[in-house]
Amino acid sequence: MSIMAKHAILEKNSILLLIGILLVISVGGLVEIAPLFYLKSTIEKVEGMRPYTPLELAGRDIYVREGCYTCHSQQVRPLRDEVERYGHYSLAAESMYDHPFQWGSKRTGPDLSRVGGKYSDEWHVAHLKNPRAVVPQSIMPGYAFLANTELEPKGIAGRMQALQTIGVPYTDDQIKNAAKDLKIQATTDDPGAADLQGRYAKSTARDYDGNPSRVTEMDALVAYLQMLGTLVDLKLYNDKANLR
Ligand code: HEC
Repeated sequence: MSIMAKHAILEKNSILLLIGILLVISVGGLVEIAPLFYLKSTIEKVEGMRPYTPLELAGRDIYVREGCYTCHSQQVRPLRDEVERYGHYSLAAESMYDHPFQWGSKRTGPDLSRVGGKYSDEWHVAHLKNPRAVVPQSIMPGYAFLANTELEPKGIAGRMQALQTIGVPYTDDQIKNAAKDLKIQATTDDPGAADLQGRYAKSTARDYDGNPSRVTEMDALVAYLQMLGTLVDLKLYNDKANLR
């Protein structure tokens, strides 16, 4: 039987044809996609990126839980209007430890990927409690309850461990100290601040929500917002890019 005659078997049997099509597509897909995961030229390493601190990670989880992403994107596109409004365009490496990433495309509110350091902690707390208190025309909902909800430190080590399993480079030391670091970072002048900074570069320990008596979900969310877009030294990144 010639090979063309054999092909007739496929053409006359729709299930076999379907299996054949799936096979061909998956081989094609693998050949195109698989190399992207290990070819060095497609993976850009950027100095300064580190996994989230336990407090920032808790804040990120609250951000996802509250659906902030339904109104806010976290990706500045390399277009002039975006860069002039929000700052340097986002680098792929800046969301390398995000699972899932928060890029999004729905912008009822502004992009938040470079909001870190744009406002004071007090502004964020006032804004999150009641957005109209600082931006009278705002249509953002208020999240005042975050300031009254104690942050539960128990689950954080487990969440870091889960991320470690899927490739986020948390060290065992970081996971062991997770609950401790969470508390240190939400406290002004904590004696453990130097240890925290040793484990996480560019992490600042201070009372984010203005209430030193306890660690709240507000502490975590503000710590997360204040870190967004600040880890990579973009001037250094551009200087190096120009040399390449
Ligand atoms: C219904 C849509 C909506 C949701 C949900 C929402 N926001 Fe907003 N957000 C807005 C709008 C509109 C603005 C612009 C007006 C203002 O500043 O309040 C804004 C502004 C902001 C700003 C100021 C950004 C800047 O550069 O001035 C921050 C920070 C922010 N939101 C954080 C959050 C967080 C955190 C959450 C989740 C807890 C959230 N938002 C949920 C609509 C939303």
